[in-house]
Amino acid sequence: MSTAALDRDAYERIAPRYDLVSTVMTLGLGDRWRRAAAGAADLSAGQRALDAYSGTGDLALMLADRVTPRGEVVGMDHSPGMIARARLKSRAPQRQCRFEVGDCTRMPFPDDHFDGATASGGLRSLEDPSVGIRELVRVVRPGGRVVVLEITPPERLRRIHARVLRVAMPLASGLLGGDPQAFSHIAGTVHHVPAPAAMAALMTAAGLGDVRWRRFAGGMATLHHGVVRP
Ligand SMILES: C[S@@+](CC[C@H](N)C(=O)[O-])C[C@H]1O[C@@H](n2cnc3c(N)ncnc32)[C@H](O)[C@@H]1O
Repeated sequence: MSTAALDRDAYERIAPRYDLVSTVMTLGLGDRWRRAAAGAADLSAGQRALDAYSGTGDLALMLADRVTPRGEVVGMDHSPGMIARARLKSRAPQRQCRFEVGDCTRMPFPDDHFDGATASGGLRSLEDPSVGIRELVRVVRPGGRVVVLEITPPERLRRIHARVLRVAMPLASGLLGGDPQAFSHIAGTVHHVPAPAAMAALMTAAGLGDVRWRRFAGGMATLHHGVVRP
């Protein structure tokens, strides 16, 4: 099976428990980091936003709070199970998003289509994150922001972090309803995330200017953003 197919399969299997798993992996801080990502996209009412690798849609809904009702938010993910969960959350009339199943490395949108885009937790699933970044840059208009949020191994504790996840994830899988393979796949991807300076270099090479980053909770998560160059 290809890396993308393995990943999609893992998220399909975990979709009903994803929100709980995400809360455990982020020690309950995930929504705070997603809110910071929504703010970093710098969108205003009436604009058009993309949340790529949208999963169960929480960040897309935060973008909707900023741009709708006049604006538009699309959430895209390759797992139909994750998108089904996201669609359930977007039923409230004031939080309208369109959730679509699709590959975020090859999106069906024209160039410069969105005013800004976010990607939380998705680039680490890719064999080459720069492919994903280039695609985000392609669909955002010049001057718009691209925001990348990733769970990251704390800088000085990289090895211990890997070991803790290796032990904690099978344990969590036992407690949360079991699927050790899917859980360890998802935990393992955290160590594919480039270090902050390397991620910034990839973003710059992909066509973003003024790339900055900010770390949360001693480096447990890192938020990067940049502006699409004309
Ligand atoms: C860790 S989850 C993050 C979900 C959500 N953004 C969040 O903040 O909780 C990563 C998501 O990326 C999706 N994904 C991975 N590779 C993808 C690809 N090539 N195209 C679309 N979605 C992808 C997975 O299905 C999964 O839902």
